[in-house]
Amino acid sequence: MSLDIWVYGSGARERAIFESCEKSPLCKSVKLVNEFCVENLPDLIIFGPEQPICDGLVDKYLKLGVQCIGVNHKFSRLESSKLLAKSFMVKYGIKCAKLLPVESNVFPQVVKAVGLFKGKGVKVVYNQEQKNEFTRKLNARYFIEEYLDGDEISLMSYFDGKKLINFCPARDFKRLNDDINSPNTGGMGAYCPVDLTDFQLNKLNAYLLKLQTALISEGADFKGFIYSGLIWANDDWYVLEYNVRLGDPECQVILNHLKNDFLSIILNGEVPQYNSGYSACLTIASKGYPDNPLKGDEIILPKCDDIKVYFAGVKEQNGKLYSNGGRVLSLCTSGKNPFEKLYDFADKIQMQNKIFRNDINIS
Ligand code: AMP
Ligand code: GLY
Repeated sequence: MSLDIWVYGSGARERAIFESCEKSPLCKSVKLVNEFCVENLPDLIIFGPEQPICDGLVDKYLKLGVQCIGVNHKFSRLESSKLLAKSFMVKYGIKCAKLLPVESNVFPQVVKAVGLFKGKGVKVVYNQEQKNEFTRKLNARYFIEEYLDGDEISLMSYFDGKKLINFCPARDFKRLNDDINSPNTGGMGAYCPVDLTDFQLNKLNAYLLKLQTALISEGADFKGFIYSGLIWANDDWYVLEYNVRLGDPECQVILNHLKNDFLSIILNGEVPQYNSGYSACLTIASKGYPDNPLKGDEIILPKCDDIKVYFAGVKEQNGKLYSNGGRVLSLCTSGKNPFEKLYDFADKIQMQNKIFRNDINIS
């Protein structure tokens, strides 16, 4: 088997998927595409971001006879409708935070916008003033959820139509910085694996079996990625959210940690195997992110063979690089102390309005 492949999307996550395809023996050619196109269709399309998936593009391409790795429209509602996701969890006995009345004055509590907000429609609020400020700015329908206190993991799985193939747990850092009141972002950094106790691992496996049973019982008939955002509370895993795609930057750390071929996992059902140590990623963003990132700064990258740089919001013009989005670069490396290397590199990047979190580490 040797496939012509499209990777749908153009961020750092999609560039990491592209790279994994490019080095796979199962790939003949691969390109990044960013809009619906029906000419010279490939054998396989792998979808990156949620928007085309939730817009139903997977169904459209399947109808055109192209094999797709991406959740279909029906099941994409697990991400696009947080309330539908909650009823799915309740139906199958999957633990999740309780809904609270919209006017609840028990704090902290969590405000969640209904719909797709690229990770930015959620905020933990600690008093009425913060709640008012966030809901006013949100300008969208929202619901209120009980606050759970605990450590989080991102657990990404591939559903092959019959069963789940689960990747090792990763941890991402969603807040803009270490201030608990700073806004949520798409993700400012990540690492994997997350070291769990045997008790936590057993509970995780029990949860993943429940998820698999739930998908099969609901007649899930897609091949695609399901991301469970989990928090450890009351001695068990609670689901905070489902995404119908790989996480960004979690995808970058998992793909760089894999020892075996990514396409062999998703196309031939191989079990994921990993290198030793940790794989880590640091996001370089532009000042103003997530609301109004500044754009147009020239970027000069230092030389370092040990660090991979995936472009996210970058524009190339006349051989020079310019910032062109909120999250600009995704830096990845691996080893025993990967964040030391990433911070050293990040400090040396020249870009006038660069920002990055400086408190990320493996815990
Ligand atoms: P979500 O997009 O739903 O995963 O929420 C983004 C972030 O908000 C999560 O990664 C958590 O840090 C936080 N969060 C969401 N829901 C809760 C909750 N019920 N309790 C505590 N923190 C939460
Ligand atoms: N990093 C979290 C996400 O991709 O939604």
